[in-house]
Amino acid sequence: MMDLIIVIFGSTGDLTFRKLLPAIARLYRKNQLPEQTKVIALGRKKFSTDEYLENMANLSSAKLDLNTLSKVVSYHQMEITDILAYQNLLDLVNSFKHEQTRELYYLAIGPELFPEISNHINVSGLVKIGNLNQSIIFEKPFGHDLSSAKAINEMLWNYFDEKQIYRIDHYLGKEMIQNIMMVRFANRIFEEIWHNRTIKNVKIISKETDGILGRAGYYDQSGALRDMIQSHLLQMLSLIAMEVPLSYFSDDVKNEKVKVLNHLHFDHDSLILGQYDGYLNEHNIPNDSKTETFVFLRAYVNTPRFKGVPFYLMSGKKLDTKESLIIIEFEETSEQRKWDLPLSTNKLLIKIDPKDGVGLVLNSKVPGLTDNVEQVELEYCINCNAVGNKTEAYEKLIIDMVGHHKTLFTRWDEIELSWHFIDTIKKYQKDPVIYKNFDELLAMIKDLTKEDMK
Ligand code: BG6
Repeated sequence: MMDLIIVIFGSTGDLTFRKLLPAIARLYRKNQLPEQTKVIALGRKKFSTDEYLENMANLSSAKLDLNTLSKVVSYHQMEITDILAYQNLLDLVNSFKHEQTRELYYLAIGPELFPEISNHINVSGLVKIGNLNQSIIFEKPFGHDLSSAKAINEMLWNYFDEKQIYRIDHYLGKEMIQNIMMVRFANRIFEEIWHNRTIKNVKIISKETDGILGRAGYYDQSGALRDMIQSHLLQMLSLIAMEVPLSYFSDDVKNEKVKVLNHLHFDHDSLILGQYDGYLNEHNIPNDSKTETFVFLRAYVNTPRFKGVPFYLMSGKKLDTKESLIIIEFEETSEQRKWDLPLSTNKLLIKIDPKDGVGLVLNSKVPGLTDNVEQVELEYCINCNAVGNKTEAYEKLIIDMVGHHKTLFTRWDEIELSWHFIDTIKKYQKDPVIYKNFDELLAMIKDLTKEDMK
């Protein structure tokens, strides 16, 4: 009998072999999952479990640990849109479970299939509404605008209790994003200066060097605003701008994040949309597509703490480097303003990827017989000290789901308000500028805002 059963719908897709199977293998190897764990991978193709795993290993660019996976994974051939096929699946799950088994039903499928599969899962009796040992997990996108997201959500509430639903934003599983509240609230030096009297601006940046990696069908309908800003960047923004929560239980934290999203305003004069040169030649992209692969915008959080502080959000594909980070820039000191020296502002850097850590940029005198000044960075680098041991976001998310911890998952009202924000921006949608390199975009941003986003 199994203590944990994970059923993956869409088990031959890219999320499964790139993220889920590697995370499950690592967790199992580190004894972080129960010894009695069964992963049931559902797919349409006829495979034995060994053939399935070999296939996944061939598709994956990183090495899959087949030795570990073959201990826990069973492939089950099934047409997931066929309600009649669910009886066999139910029998299979029942043959593995006892009264306390934790069951995760992971929908690694496109949102167009959410309603049908949710219906089948419910009608077949696989997941019973209100049974908290059974959870259902969804990956973004939750719709493409506020009204489609509402429709998906209402459908989910027909079949499942909110407490059973886990909506994934994988950025929340990243080490330094989990660390934001700790850095803010457990360090006097930051807590004291976290407001509009000392913070000059906040930059939230997520840059990628890859293009759309064969995801034309999804990406061309989505674009960077929906793909990155609606989810990952707004989640980072709310953690930076939120007030101290009543407690660190999931709902109290979310209540504060929701207040931020409720006070979020977008400055439409600041919007820059770009499309990388060559996007139109990507396989399956229509040759007149106006989809943006780059977004820059300025937003304001109109709370007493942050009123007047610009939040610059920037995200794009085919840029100079792969990097996600948050830069909190502080005001100059009054002395600093008087001196005619090449001084920098202080900056707190929250580095999310590929390095995780914290940096603090300070002014310092150049050592020795000179009066020159230099900018120095105090750096705490997490993966420098833990070579090879970096915990991937999906490992943390799976462990939290198994343990019923919901803080790192998004609640419906967060998603609702994020879509509202995106819908507002969409009203100002314009044709994207075509960019060949990042410097062209940086120059446009500088012209428009005087800000250096490098
Ligand atoms: C996903 C987006 O949510 O995040 C992708 O759909 C994007 O388009 C990815 O590439 C970036 O994630 P990470 O963890 O590589 O920064």
